[in-house]
Amino acid sequence: MPCVRLKLDPNRSAQPMSQSTSAAELALLDVPRERLPRHIAIIMDGNGRWAQQRGLPRIEGHRRGADSVRTTTEECSRLGIAQLTLYCFSSENWKRPRPELNFLMNLLERYMAQQRAEVVQQGIKVTMIGRREGLPDAALREIDRTVAATSGNTGLQVCLAINYGGRAELNDAVRSIARKVQLGQLDPEAITEQTIAQHLYTAGMQDPDLLIRTAGELRLSNFLLWQISYAELWVTECCWPDFGVPQLHQAIREYVQRNRRFGGLVSS
Ligand code: IPE
Ligand code: IPE
Ligand code: MG
Repeated sequence: MPCVRLKLDPNRSAQPMSQSTSAAELALLDVPRERLPRHIAIIMDGNGRWAQQRGLPRIEGHRRGADSVRTTTEECSRLGIAQLTLYCFSSENWKRPRPELNFLMNLLERYMAQQRAEVVQQGIKVTMIGRREGLPDAALREIDRTVAATSGNTGLQVCLAINYGGRAELNDAVRSIARKVQLGQLDPEAITEQTIAQHLYTAGMQDPDLLIRTAGELRLSNFLLWQISYAELWVTECCWPDFGVPQLHQAIREYVQRNRRFGGLVSS
């Protein structure tokens, strides 16, 4: 059975190894390829706390969080994961102070421009979900460029949830379904779960198999409310800037041990 056996570069994570997982255990991700999650979604939380714990401004946590995005994306690509969805900015995050918002939007813009060539070269395909309205033009321009530059790629699909809210997504879906009903293009009796899924921002994407949340909170914070109905949840105390290859491997290993029943009795 082909397994994913990868050597770890210890420099790829700033996070000390957890007590329960030895360095040797982490050195290999001994998981049969067909058991890997096809779609991993991540709530990348804890940038501010990471910085505050070190006496640094919150924005330093965001800056370091961008490095974790790169590491995680590269590793998912190496492992042959099909889809990675990253919660970058929620529709509720506009409640934050203006200077932090400005920094985040600027970081997004710069990250998109700086990483484009590498992402193209790695065969990664980038898409975005979330409302465009409210996002600065400069950030949208760089996102659009990266989406266009990678549209023909067939490797890992990275979906960036930016100005995303699960309820806003459902709201938009209901509106577009209602418009079709009003125009006589859709019979209300013919609306199925599939119809709803096809009207979400994530139309055409598989639902996540594994949802990772960093920084310990046990909540969804309005992320992919429809799509994660049967995702396996994995929460770590590790803040996002400390998240690296060892943590990703640990999440995947624990995911593989889970018994997914989808309401039935037999594990799939
Ligand atoms: C996640 O880190 C990044 C965004 C939500 C943009 P936070 O900024 O929420 O960090 P904490 O939760 O305050 O530590
Ligand atoms: C969730 O984190 C949003 C992102 C990671 C982008 P938050 O920090 O916004 O979540 P809450 O406010 O703790 O629920
Ligand atoms: Mg937070």
